[in-house]
Amino acid sequence: MKSVMGKTVLITGAAMGMGRLFAERAIAERAAAVILWDVAAEALAATTKELGKGDVEVTSDVVDVRSLEAIRAAGERVRGDHGDVEVLFNNAGVVRGNRYFWETDPERDTEFTVAVNTLAPMFVAHEFLPGMVDSRSECRLVNLASAAGFTANPRMAAYAGSKWAVIGWSDSVRLELAQADAKHVKVTTVCPYYVKTGMFDGAKSAPLLPLLEPQDVVDESWKGMLNGDAFVVMPKTVVLSEMMKGFIPTDIKDFIADRIIGVYHTMEDFKGRAEQQA
Ligand SMILES: NC(=O)c1ccc[n+]([C@@H]2O[C@H](COP(=O)([O-])OP(=O)(O)OC[C@H]3O[C@@H](n4cnc5c(N)ncnc54)[C@H](OP(=O)(O)O)[C@@H]3O)[C@@H](O)[C@H]2O)c1
Repeated sequence: MKSVMGKTVLITGAAMGMGRLFAERAIAERAAAVILWDVAAEALAATTKELGKGDVEVTSDVVDVRSLEAIRAAGERVRGDHGDVEVLFNNAGVVRGNRYFWETDPERDTEFTVAVNTLAPMFVAHEFLPGMVDSRSECRLVNLASAAGFTANPRMAAYAGSKWAVIGWSDSVRLELAQADAKHVKVTTVCPYYVKTGMFDGAKSAPLLPLLEPQDVVDESWKGMLNGDAFVVMPKTVVLSEMMKGFIPTDIKDFIADRIIGVYHTMEDFKGRAEQQA
């Protein structure tokens, strides 16, 4: 696919951060419609107003993607107004930190994190994937996972678990689409290290793992999405650490990740966004 020109694009968590930047890319490429979903009503209204100033149609709906009922109702509205979604970004995500897992709350932290990060992308995909499979046009499903879905890390256990699950689910759907001969629908799983959007405020970089610029991650993800690439992993150090798992004993891998790469202490000063709002 060369661009999303003429396509109907839906982005969850689009009020700010990378979701908003994905919307800007879709507008720049002259999508037929850009639909923004988010739970943050005020920020969503402001973003919709700003992004809607040009001549590309930008609409929005306050949707809490934890709710299957809300997704179904909003999905109906989307199909009524714009027809089937052709490019879907499952981007909404949350993190609760930075305590050890046993110090966190099962509902406020664990259930909440898994509901938004893991179940919600599956629910939203249930809503729009059948339309994509039936469509004759090129379609894309982009799922925002995380490097934390590959690399275990202290003080973010529920988040890592929620993203680990996304990777397994997302890449399995990719295989299913190929097996079912729906090759016009491509799935891209995006796995970045910390990105400077505010979501992970306070999290530290490590010598081999610099904090990423949101625009760089969005640009790479966009390229991967258009190409129909299975994965976008940033930075490449994450791929190295994933490869290490296969042939290095766990205690040596832990030593390298902790003492050489330095990743196991990056969450100690985490403040984050959801944490501030809780
Ligand atoms: N930032 C990073 O370091 C990083 C690294 C790897 C992967 N990722 C992933 O990349 C994606 C985007 O991250 P980001 O940094 O751009 O996030 P962000 O700036 O915090 O924006 C996320 C947006 O999603 C919204 N949202 C949260 N829960 C929602 C729900 N239940 N329903 C609908 N919208 C909801 C948020 O609203 P509220 O503000 O009201 O919660 C916010 O507007 C996430 O999936 C994240 O896990 C991020």
